[in-house]
Amino acid sequence: MTILVTGGLGYIGSHTVVELLQNNFQVIIVDDMSNSEKFILDNIEKVAGKRPVFFPFDLKRKELLSQVFDAYEIDGCINFAAYKAVGESQEKPLDYYENNLFSLINVLQEFKTRNISNFIFSSSCTVYGQADEMPIDENTPLKLPESSYGKTKQMGEEILKDFATAYKKKVSLLRYFNPIGSHPTALLGELPIGVPNNLVPYVTQTASGIREKLSVWGNDYPTADGTAIRDYIYVVDLAKAHVKALQKLLNETSETVIDIYNLGTGKGSSVLEVVNAFEIANDVKVPYQICERRAGDITVAYANADKAEKELGWKAETSLEEALRTTWEWQKYLVNRG
Ligand code: WQD
Repeated sequence: MTILVTGGLGYIGSHTVVELLQNNFQVIIVDDMSNSEKFILDNIEKVAGKRPVFFPFDLKRKELLSQVFDAYEIDGCINFAAYKAVGESQEKPLDYYENNLFSLINVLQEFKTRNISNFIFSSSCTVYGQADEMPIDENTPLKLPESSYGKTKQMGEEILKDFATAYKKKVSLLRYFNPIGSHPTALLGELPIGVPNNLVPYVTQTASGIREKLSVWGNDYPTADGTAIRDYIYVVDLAKAHVKALQKLLNETSETVIDIYNLGTGKGSSVLEVVNAFEIANDVKVPYQICERRAGDITVAYANADKAEKELGWKAETSLEEALRTTWEWQKYLVNRG
């Protein structure tokens, strides 16, 4: 079985490519390298013992994408390719709509014309906005996300539902909560390109002295310690869920399938709990200052992941502390690598 992985050199993409290779899938990566570096491909090979096929181009280049489908018999796709910086999406909405949606539609057009099914879409819990009740399950009503990034995820889901219904296709929408951590080999992880938007890479860079202090965006939320709560899921557990979701689609006999899964641990952790867990797990200090809330942030989000456990036989296995240990090992690898 040959799987096209768009954005396969990215953070979650690279970990998922390793799991696919280790499950004997053939993998073809298309990645424009806007959020990755070539050494990640070499490290995927080191970890998995096999090298995926790689094409370095932008998915908006329809003619190049078509040549890939001409050259390989593709049985499915996991679509990670997207810009994902929430703040940046507010400054450059058109870039986000054009990149995230045109790339997606170009791949779907190839699937339609060549009659290919089994499409997995990288979605996000951001499609729920601030849900009224916790934990969040797949029936929780969606709310319009604050950010253009979040809107591209919600629009992407609607495109996939119509694609599956109109053309009788099998699709799976995977709503990630907050992915964290790095591969246990410390050869794969989140690449620090620019100033990190997300909490854990910022914590890691602060602990290593690259950043002077972590800004905790608000401690006046209605939570136990006043800081916002998220569901931090270990990236390798998340990668394994993609293989399970793909295997389910491949085994489905019905023509039209629209699967939707929340991928989280089911446990909420506050910002200060993450900082504290990181310090204890790695025996390092993380200097921080309390600042004003970040515009657009929600108070709390954590998953009810029972549906994925029941239907995919998947459950997040890794503790917050273990995930935070791996991210520190990755940071040390990056520093040593220079
Ligand atoms: C987590 C918590 C911040 C940085 C977004 C997207 C989601 C997913 C992950 C894209 C919040 C606080 C953060 C910092 C802080 N996909 N924080 N200081 O916003 O929950 O989710 O990223 O990557 O789709 O919506 O993740 O890591 O940015 O923030 O206090 O320097 O940490 O306020 O409470 P978020 P995050």
